[in-house]
Amino acid sequence: MDYSAKAADLIKQPSPCLVVGVCRSKKPLLSPSGEILDKAGNGQISALVRLGDLTAENGSMLMLHNPHGVKARRILLLGLGKKREITEVSFRSAVQAAVRQINRHNIRSADFTLLDSVGGESGKMRQARNLVEAAEEALYRYDETKSTGKKPHRLKKINVMARRESLASVRAGVSQGVAIAAGVSFAKTISNLPGNICTPGYLARQAKAMQKSHGIKTTVLDEAQMKRLKMGSLLSVSRGSREPAKLIVMEYRGGQESEKPIVLIGKGLTFDAGGISIKPAAAMDEMKYDMCGGASVFGAIRAAADLKLGLNIVGIVPSSENLPDGAANKPGDIVTSMAGKTIEILNTDAEGRLILCDALTYAERYHPAAVVDVATLTGACIIALGYHASGLYSNSAELARELLDAGEASGDRAWEMPLWDDYTKQLKSNFADLANIGGRAGGSVTAACFLKQFAGNYDWAHLDIAGTAWRSGGSRKGATGRPVPLLVEFLLGRN
Ligand code: BES
Ligand code: MN
Ligand code: ZN
Repeated sequence: MDYSAKAADLIKQPSPCLVVGVCRSKKPLLSPSGEILDKAGNGQISALVRLGDLTAENGSMLMLHNPHGVKARRILLLGLGKKREITEVSFRSAVQAAVRQINRHNIRSADFTLLDSVGGESGKMRQARNLVEAAEEALYRYDETKSTGKKPHRLKKINVMARRESLASVRAGVSQGVAIAAGVSFAKTISNLPGNICTPGYLARQAKAMQKSHGIKTTVLDEAQMKRLKMGSLLSVSRGSREPAKLIVMEYRGGQESEKPIVLIGKGLTFDAGGISIKPAAAMDEMKYDMCGGASVFGAIRAAADLKLGLNIVGIVPSSENLPDGAANKPGDIVTSMAGKTIEILNTDAEGRLILCDALTYAERYHPAAVVDVATLTGACIIALGYHASGLYSNSAELARELLDAGEASGDRAWEMPLWDDYTKQLKSNFADLANIGGRAGGSVTAACFLKQFAGNYDWAHLDIAGTAWRSGGSRKGATGRPVPLLVEFLLGRN
């Protein structure tokens, strides 16, 4: 898809399809652009609206062919809902409906005029970005593993119309949208790939490919190198698997040489069967999504490179499978982490924290400005927060605030959870420094408390994305690309 922004005379715009917003009031209310087009056509649009065919409810639509007095061949009237109730979320859903409709109509290119009633330059920038993100969301399709192959969309180009004075802001919003949407789509696709294709080795090759395409320096540590670093906890997880573990490190350098980097760590468990503490069969296929945290780090760092952010960013993705096998971890086994702490593995299915703790220790060598880890860590987080918010934990109130705000601003929300010592106590072990589980109660919290023990000397936050990274079952089953929007918003805020 090609996205652009342009300031031009609406009436003279030779558009295959001009999209015009209509709000709901006592009667449908045309946007300023709609008024201009209506006048040019001697009231054709308002006459149509008077007929009552358009409710102007959010996402409702009416296609007008060969409109009078304008160069455009079609005008798509798009309901945005009640003016006072328009939010970024409702705006996105209207855009999605329009984009799907245009694509179904086999129209190659469309011009959106939806920003004329948006207030302020930053507001226009945000809505331009939302428009692009929503369009990409509507057009996203996974067909990597279908024999029909990739069928291109008919809709190839979306142009966002702007007033001349706000063209720069709209352009900036479009570029941000393109970068974020590309990060989201990339994260979705590698997440949706099955575990027999998306292995730790596959993820490592994807990172290497990003070195070429995005100038991101990539280093992949193999098991021998991790052994030398004494990553006994991480390596214990991959021992039960035939696919060797990888520690993928990606470095984007957009800031000053001396500037401390932001480190993003993503859980890259390419399939989690639970190990010897094996999971039940129902929906176990969805454990291919246990690498969504890693995928979001890939997506965010790609977007940062596309946006040429003036920051130094390090992405670390510890990647492994978790399978039952003669060599696999057994309940009661004790391993020694890179930090030197010993861990009693009471449940081999609590493997995410076992690979993340060594990655957290590894991150220390970068003297990070902040570390954010992202992981599909616990089913308990879904019980606590459902599918709407990611669980946020942090040892720094400022960092927590930044991430919560970034989630709010990007529509990719997180909710803060406690890290109190009361919970940490649940991890006591009679035989090692700590146990890898803390019982059923507060499972997402005790998992975060486990990680906190390894996030030594830096500002750290943890996002538990078990409920937000993918949609389960049903026809909408698939990765969401979250929390790429939150992460990129956070990075933009530090830029
Ligand atoms: N990857 C899972 C967490 C998960 C489960 C995410 C279901 C999304 C949906 C993780 O490795 C895991 O198995 N966690 C256990 C921890 C428990 C053994 C303490 C869990 O949540 O059941
Ligand atoms: Mn598990
Ligand atoms: Zn897992």
